[in-house]
Amino acid sequence: MAFIHLSVVFSLMALCSSAPLECNDTVKPIAIWNPNEVFGKWFIIAASNDYKPYIDMFKTFRNSWMDLQPVSDSNFTMKQGMLFEKCIWTTEYFTMTNHSGFLTYTMRNNTFGTFMATCPNCLLMSFTSLDGSNVAKSFYIFARSRKFEASDLEKFKQQVECLGLPPPVFIDNQETELCPEEGTSVITSHPEPAKPDEDLKSKST
Ligand SMILES: *[C@@H]1O[C@H](CO)[C@@H](O)[C@H](O)[C@H]1NC(C)=O
Ligand SMILES: *[C@@H]1O[C@H](CO)[C@@H](O)[C@H](O)[C@H]1NC(C)=O
Ligand SMILES: *[C@@H]1O[C@H](CO)[C@@H](O)[C@H](O)[C@H]1NC(C)=O
Ligand SMILES: *[C@@H]1O[C@H](CO)[C@@H](O)[C@H](O)[C@H]1NC(C)=O
Repeated sequence: MAFIHLSVVFSLMALCSSAPLECNDTVKPIAIWNPNEVFGKWFIIAASNDYKPYIDMFKTFRNSWMDLQPVSDSNFTMKQGMLFEKCIWTTEYFTMTNHSGFLTYTMRNNTFGTFMATCPNCLLMSFTSLDGSNVAKSFYIFARSRKFEASDLEKFKQQVECLGLPPPVFIDNQETELCPEEGTSVITSHPEPAKPDEDLKSKST
């Protein structure tokens, strides 16, 4: 997703220290021992963030899938098919570092995050973004299928509340049609409905 590769600086310590104490048990990084738990295709279930340019972008966002695949031990690709008013496909390289099972990832030199504890068959990605002096926090939950338990969504809502984030700006309604698999070259010929990067750049100067 475009919003995942935005200028993001993630600090595990910052996240932990900013969470109220009662969140300790519900919002925490998760150790992942089997890489296959993160590789492959995922569908976004819900998203929350606290930065207006990101929030605005979700107004026309309908759904997305992403496919995480290893390139080497520390280099990975995140391929995405996102439906806004039209489908947009992106492929992003990122590095992933394994701290005794706790995986932190970096994209575009300024995008950092880690996987957080969540429901089984779910993937919870946490980010903190720096845009000039602005700090944006984002929390995105994915699942292996678009069907998800109401209780899992409730847990996600509690997590974002614990973090002091606004309620989810996006929840998949499972009715919109997904974008098909597609080459990333297509993206250059599209108009630009989803260019939060531009917003960010113009705001930071
Ligand atoms: C939460 O974490 C802090 C810092 O590690 C600790 O001092 C506190 O006791 C923890 N609270 C709970 C409820 O676990
Ligand atoms: C991370 O490293 C540990 C060893 O510290 C290893 O057992 C585990 O499989 C690795 N996890 C991933 C996702 O590569
Ligand atoms: C990952 O690998 C791709 C393809 O080899 C390369 O273009 C890219 O620069 C690499 N990215 C990082 C962060 O190492
Ligand atoms: C990433 O940051 C390093 C250190 O600040 C810098 O040397 C490098 O050019 C940057 N790479 C990109 C692609 O911006």
